Amino acid sequence: MSEAPVSIAPDVFWIGALDPQLRVFDVILRTANGTTYNAYCVRGETGVAVIDTVKAEYADTFFERLEQVARYDEITVIVLNHLEPDHTGALPELMRRAPRARLYISVKAQTMLKGLLKSEDLAYTPVDTGDTVNLGGRTLTFLNTPFLHWPDTQCTYLNEEALLFSGDVFGCHFCDGRLFNDRVGDFRFSFEYYYQHIMRPFREHVRAGLDLIEPLRLDLIAPAHGPILRDAPRSYVQRYRQLAAPLLHNEASDRAKTLVIFYISSYGNTARMAQAVRDGAEEIDGVRASLYDLQGGEVTPFVDLIEEADGIVFGSPTINGDAVKPIWDLLSSLAVVSVKDKLGAAFGSYGWTGEAVSMLEDRLRGLKLRVPVTGVRVKLIPTEEELDQCRLFGRQLGKHLTGRNARRVIDMSELFKEPHHAQG
Ligand code: FEO
Repeated sequence: MSEAPVSIAPDVFWIGALDPQLRVFDVILRTANGTTYNAYCVRGETGVAVIDTVKAEYADTFFERLEQVARYDEITVIVLNHLEPDHTGALPELMRRAPRARLYISVKAQTMLKGLLKSEDLAYTPVDTGDTVNLGGRTLTFLNTPFLHWPDTQCTYLNEEALLFSGDVFGCHFCDGRLFNDRVGDFRFSFEYYYQHIMRPFREHVRAGLDLIEPLRLDLIAPAHGPILRDAPRSYVQRYRQLAAPLLHNEASDRAKTLVIFYISSYGNTARMAQAVRDGAEEIDGVRASLYDLQGGEVTPFVDLIEEADGIVFGSPTINGDAVKPIWDLLSSLAVVSVKDKLGAAFGSYGWTGEAVSMLEDRLRGLKLRVPVTGVRVKLIPTEEELDQCRLFGRQLGKHLTGRNARRVIDMSELFKEPHHAQG
């Protein structure tokens, strides 16, 4: 047979698929040399487990490899570390062929599973951190790692081999049939790119997941995409820890709340407003406000700044009934970071109608920021009184940041407590 399974540990096999032609994954991720959909089979004395499946188009390859290491009537366990279709495409057919198998999924995966299979009549067991399943001389232990990068995600640890089936965590879109990290080409770029686009928005969850993973003995990490990490597996865990650390934690005082103000100005009016907002915010003890002209900077460092900031303010003129493009460009770049629950606000000078401020506020609410203070709008050139309003606006924002504003404003975005989901 052409599609051979690959032994990765005693009685543990890679039974996944290579997709070298893929160039764009889930619309947003570029894949310079394709990807792999990694699935695995673990043989015990009394049962066989399949860990994840593959994208539907690659089901034939998956079954061809699986059939070389197990009979369908031996399969007692199917573990789904993550229900996204690139890992569950072959699941319905696998369940049909292996009727003895029971599914093991995270608690949060239950509703997704029913939606995926369009059935309520399913033989599954929801599992949490520390739960185990025994295959006879082989024990799978589950680690609940939500939001890495979906609510349902979990990792599965094969105790006897110190082998972590990590799902998307520690994965990357990199296709090389030699499979193992000490044999494939240099995939560091893909590893970092994958983290930045898939895991970065959930870095608090990454840190929580690492708290579970780091104490484990790790001889091998078998992710759901890209190379299998058998050479120095812990270095990849350490790299995740570095990537998930706050970027500026040595720069800003723990006590200071940071407010970053971005503006763009056609005739200097919105710029003068921005300076007044900054001055007002700085009047509040414990607030560190920074001002940036969007005409003078690259987007990427600003995204880093926003990730670390406690509050974000945008100043824009209104041109043809809209905020200006550099601001929308920056806002459209925020999918890679978490901005949920940060303070958001907008202001700007206008000539005719001044829609930019409310449009920006709507966008900020859409990104699940808190927008407790209505933005200041000024027609054309700000007067001294209007600049005073801007300073007051800045002080109000500073008070909200430091918790000194007694007035409690319920923002609709607070009703949605789960982070947004990226595709991976
Ligand atoms: Fe590889 Fe999130 O699916």
